[in-house]
Amino acid sequence: MAEKGGPAAHGARHVAIIMDGNGRWAKKRFLPRAVGHTRGVEAVRNLVRGLRSTGVEVLTLYAFSSENWRRSEEEIQDLMGLMRHFIRSDLPEFIANGIRLRIIGDYSIFPADLVEMIEDALARTAGGRNGTLAVALNYGSQQEIVRAAKAAAAGGEITAEAIEAALDTADLPPLDLLIRTSGEVRLSNFLLWQAAYAELYFTDVLWPDFTLAHLEEALAEFAGRERRFGGR
Ligand code: FPP
Repeated sequence: MAEKGGPAAHGARHVAIIMDGNGRWAKKRFLPRAVGHTRGVEAVRNLVRGLRSTGVEVLTLYAFSSENWRRSEEEIQDLMGLMRHFIRSDLPEFIANGIRLRIIGDYSIFPADLVEMIEDALARTAGGRNGTLAVALNYGSQQEIVRAAKAAAAGGEITAEAIEAALDTADLPPLDLLIRTSGEVRLSNFLLWQAAYAELYFTDVLWPDFTLAHLEEALAEFAGRERRFGGR
C-alpha cells in the first residue's frame, strides 16, 4: 500500500499472479506435489507480509481455477487442506497488519466448513486498510464474463461499463500488471477481461521460489513500460 503522500513510484495499484510451477518445483527435488503446494503457500505468505512495502494496493492470486477440479481427488484435498491451514494460521496476522481478504470466483461449492472459514475471514478482515489480498477460488474468467453479461442484460443494457460493474473484481482498481511464473506463457482463463490493458510479465521462476525481490523486479520492469491504452 502506498504510504501517505501518493501512489508508489512504479504506479501499479493492482497486480495479479498466476502461481505456476509448484509441481515441477517438487518433481525436481523428488518430492510429492503436495510439498510443492506447501512451499507455494509459504511464497504467498512472504509476499503478503511484504505487500505494504511494495506500494501495491491489491494482489490477486489464482489459487484454484474452475478447471482445477480435473486434478486428482488427492491433490484437490491437499489444496483444500492447505487453504484451511492458511486461513487458520495467517488470519490473525492479516487482521493485525490491516490486510483485507477478498475472494473472486464462486467458492460456494467448496466444502461447507471451508466456506464458513472463508466467510469468517472475509468479515474479520473487511476493515483492513493496508492492502488487499484477492484470492481466486473456483474462478474461471469466461464463466465470470458470462455471469456479468447476464447481469448487465438483466439491468437493461449490455455495455462494457455494465459488464465491468458486474465482474467479481468490480470494487478493485483496474488491473495493471499480470505475472505468470514457471515459464508458461498463457492466461489460462484468468482475468481475461481485466487484462485488456494490463502489462504482462512472464518469468521462469517456479512459484515456490518466487520472492518479494522477484515481485519488485517485475514492478521495476512495469515502471519502464510505456502504457498507451490504445492511444499514441
Ligand atoms: C500451480 O502449480 C499451482 C496451483 C494449481 C495451485 C496454487 C495454490 C497454492 C500456491 C496454494 C493455495 C493458495 C493459497 C492462497 C492458500 P502446478 O501444480 O500447476 O505446478 P506444475 O505446473 O509445475 O505441475
